[in-house]
Amino acid sequence: KITNCNNVNDFKKLAKRKLPSPIFHYIDGAADDEVTYRRNTEAYDECFLVPKVLRSVESIDQGVNLFGKKISLPFFLSPTALQRLFHYQGELAVAKAAEKYNTFFGISSLSTIPIEKISKISAPKIFQLYFHKDKGLTNSMIDKCKSYNIDVLALTVDTITGGNRERDLRTGFTSPPKLTLSSLLSFATSPSWSLNYIFREKFDLPFLSEYVKEGTDIKVSVSDYFSNMLDQTMNWKDAENVKKKWGGTFCLKGIMSKEDAKRAIDIGADAIMISNHGGRQLDGSASPFDQLEEIADFVSGKIDLICDGGIRRGTHMLKALSLGANACSGG
Ligand code: LAC
Repeated sequence: KITNCNNVNDFKKLAKRKLPSPIFHYIDGAADDEVTYRRNTEAYDECFLVPKVLRSVESIDQGVNLFGKKISLPFFLSPTALQRLFHYQGELAVAKAAEKYNTFFGISSLSTIPIEKISKISAPKIFQLYFHKDKGLTNSMIDKCKSYNIDVLALTVDTITGGNRERDLRTGFTSPPKLTLSSLLSFATSPSWSLNYIFREKFDLPFLSEYVKEGTDIKVSVSDYFSNMLDQTMNWKDAENVKKKWGGTFCLKGIMSKEDAKRAIDIGADAIMISNHGGRQLDGSASPFDQLEEIADFVSGKIDLICDGGIRRGTHMLKALSLGANACSGG
């Protein structure tokens, strides 16, 4: 039961029982041998805290300033795609959690709830932008963010090609999900999921569906989506142009090196998310926490620094903040 979950691992075990296996393995899986996926969390085990005592901690403020706003936790909800596949309420429920705890909600380009509905929830919002080959589509997303007063635009820079997600290859996961012979059994053994999928509001990706059929009518894997739909020529000039077109608070999501952090500052980014996309793209990549100290020493105070990925505990956040992150995030 959800009330018996004491930590993220307990939630994961429950999700594994509740979800059809292609859906579970899509959200839980990562690239190649998943070395980086494991490293993202394990890196925290090699760092130890040295507590200082007798400082009266009766009333403490865990809030931080991020993107020019005060949030009540040093943590916010990273954009994650396709949320109605995991629960029929999808992004609406997750945004409400962000509202309750006064922290940022990350809206994915592959959101399953339209921005009109999400914008009614008062949590501060970050929109995650994929730079599509179809410039009409990319620009329509930026325009919607302006119309609906999104607080921050975060351009994802680590999906220049699809990650080799072998669990998805094995299960045949696509969006929208397809019933294959091998996955049929797992849909049949997740009856409440299947009933919700069939009888609730139709699955849709409203940011895309006016422009392209992929992901909504045409079934594609996320990896093929990245490789075929996103613009593989994307470069620093494009990032600068997106920032100019947007004109508001701008973040690059997926920076992993000091050199790129410097270029992010050069193009006028307000923040970077140190992230390897949850190990779902380049296996063998260092973890965000591995890179944090070096980037923080360089960036310190110039722009906001977010450590994204692998965080499973409050103590992980404490370690990241100790090494210079302004906040942490996870999806
Ligand atoms: C992922 C995307 C869509 O599956 O962010 O990693």
